[in-house]
Amino acid sequence: MCGIVGYIGDRDAAPLLLKGLKRLEYRGYDSAGIALMKGSLLVMKQKGSVSGLECAVDAIGSDIQGSTAGIGHTRWATHGEPSDNNAHPHLNTAGDIALIHNGIVENFTVLKQELLSAGYAFRSDTDSEVLVQLIDSIWKRNPSLDLEGAVRHTLRHVEGAYGICVISSREPDKIVVARKGSPLVIGIGNGEFFIASDAAPIVEYTKKVVYLSDGELAVITRDGYSVKNIENIEQEKIVTELDFSLEKIEKGGFEHFMLKEIFEQPAVMQDVMRGRVRLAEGRVYLGGIEDYLDRLKQARRILICACGTSWHAGLIGEYLIEEFARIPVEVDYASEFRYRNPIVGVDDVVILISQSGETADTLAALRTAKEKGALVMGICNVVGSTIARETLCGMYTHAGPEVGVASTKAFTAQVIVLYMLALALSKGRTISSDEAALNLRELSRLPEKATRILDLDEQIKGIAERFKDARNFLYLGRGYNFPVALEGALKLKEISYIHAEGYPAAEMKHGPIALIDEDMPVIFIATRDSTYSKILSNIEEVRSRKGRVIAIASEGDQEIGHLAEHVIYIPQASGPITPLLTVIPLQLLAYHIATLRGCNVDRPRNLAKSVTVE
Ligand code: G6P
Repeated sequence: MCGIVGYIGDRDAAPLLLKGLKRLEYRGYDSAGIALMKGSLLVMKQKGSVSGLECAVDAIGSDIQGSTAGIGHTRWATHGEPSDNNAHPHLNTAGDIALIHNGIVENFTVLKQELLSAGYAFRSDTDSEVLVQLIDSIWKRNPSLDLEGAVRHTLRHVEGAYGICVISSREPDKIVVARKGSPLVIGIGNGEFFIASDAAPIVEYTKKVVYLSDGELAVITRDGYSVKNIENIEQEKIVTELDFSLEKIEKGGFEHFMLKEIFEQPAVMQDVMRGRVRLAEGRVYLGGIEDYLDRLKQARRILICACGTSWHAGLIGEYLIEEFARIPVEVDYASEFRYRNPIVGVDDVVILISQSGETADTLAALRTAKEKGALVMGICNVVGSTIARETLCGMYTHAGPEVGVASTKAFTAQVIVLYMLALALSKGRTISSDEAALNLRELSRLPEKATRILDLDEQIKGIAERFKDARNFLYLGRGYNFPVALEGALKLKEISYIHAEGYPAAEMKHGPIALIDEDMPVIFIATRDSTYSKILSNIEEVRSRKGRVIAIASEGDQEIGHLAEHVIYIPQASGPITPLLTVIPLQLLAYHIATLRGCNVDRPRNLAKSVTVE
């Protein structure tokens, strides 16, 4: 989720790169930096905002003027906390190659070890620095190569995702870029070229762009560009004309950040599992907790503390960990936990879940648990956030910056992390290797299934149109889908201001059934799992009271079509996987109802993205 800019032409590069980085600020970041070609390489980078970097650049003054080629980066930390050293660009030891990188190098530990053995020293904790040192090492061993060749040879050793820009004072009039899994765009001007991770920094200079495809590498000079694949074969590229506004580009062409983030979920699912779900080995690898796994497995009890949407993810975590790992789990609102004098001891593990990693109540719960001697573990999205720093171990969700106040992609990423944790805790204890392999296969199919659900957007919008004026909604689900009912109701009330309640379907008869009449839409999450037949009876109960039923059901289920007014069919999946799928239509439904009612979905009234006060 980092931002990349590059320029080569006849203008002063520094102000242009800084402006480009500002255009990428909407993506969220924690540090920024630029590298300029001026005989030798001049690098300025620091933790914090682009404005801060701009002040540092201004302070250098005339030294940076006259450079007409350079690269710039805004970083969203994945490996290593936000810091000056971890900011990009990264330099090789001699300081004559600079690189910026967007993505994750999965085999960076292996590559780093090899480079360390060969005498290379590292200045940062990032996976990205490995790339520049590897280019250096390959170039030294093959002096006949040029920069392009050294980059190409390097990328053959790299597993994972990357969008990279590389410059070297040994060949000062070119920029080499490459892409696999992380977008890169080349903007074509008159005797000048722009590079960026999306079109936002380019559009004010030129509308002509070339999008690189995965596995492609381009060499850009002031005279032109050439694109080849990793096998060094020339690629024909089509020049595309940009035709949208800056604001739209920032939202990736979507109307709102929330919608963009909902649609990012298949990619996020891949990112969160990358390098962790190891199908061939039949296991998950969770680097952030590997050293504590034995202690975690021996926990007397696991307590999960969180707020809001993260609390809902925690509830699913309870079901997953108890089902697979057979360790007792309790889930608490962080705000309750901190004030109720909880019984927690050294044999307990307390997991804090927080997208922002800064939520005041969750942080206080963490400190309480720590005081009482529990092993504290974090599941956070923002790298280097307070909760991530203060926990003993943990896992990042790698969902990228979430801008929309209503959390969507962070939720699915949290649930996947909990799923992987449950499998890691069960390995060799409570589930067979066949069962583990089956679950891993199911997880790896998630992105494709999520994409198929997103294809239902138009149908869901149609349902939203019919129900947008309702004053109340009831969401019902059982088992793994009970927390999804809560999350669906929360999404709707957060952004549309319609009163909505989530309930376990069987609890309906103990109260909510009194509310049902012809004005009450009831959303049933009724996928084919162990509670399916019970849910059908609950649907009958609502129908006989004239409630209006919308069902989320499994593909191929004919029966439910006779009972529900509307059915949203999702791909079949096993019970524990379903919450990761059933939540997506509910996010879309809430989004469409809210926009049809004219609500500002990205900034709903009275709510904040990060609640750092009690
Ligand atoms: C706020 C946000 C929610 C979020 C909750 C917990 O209420 O609006 O979307 O779920 O805080 O935030 P956290 O960052 O700790 O997950």
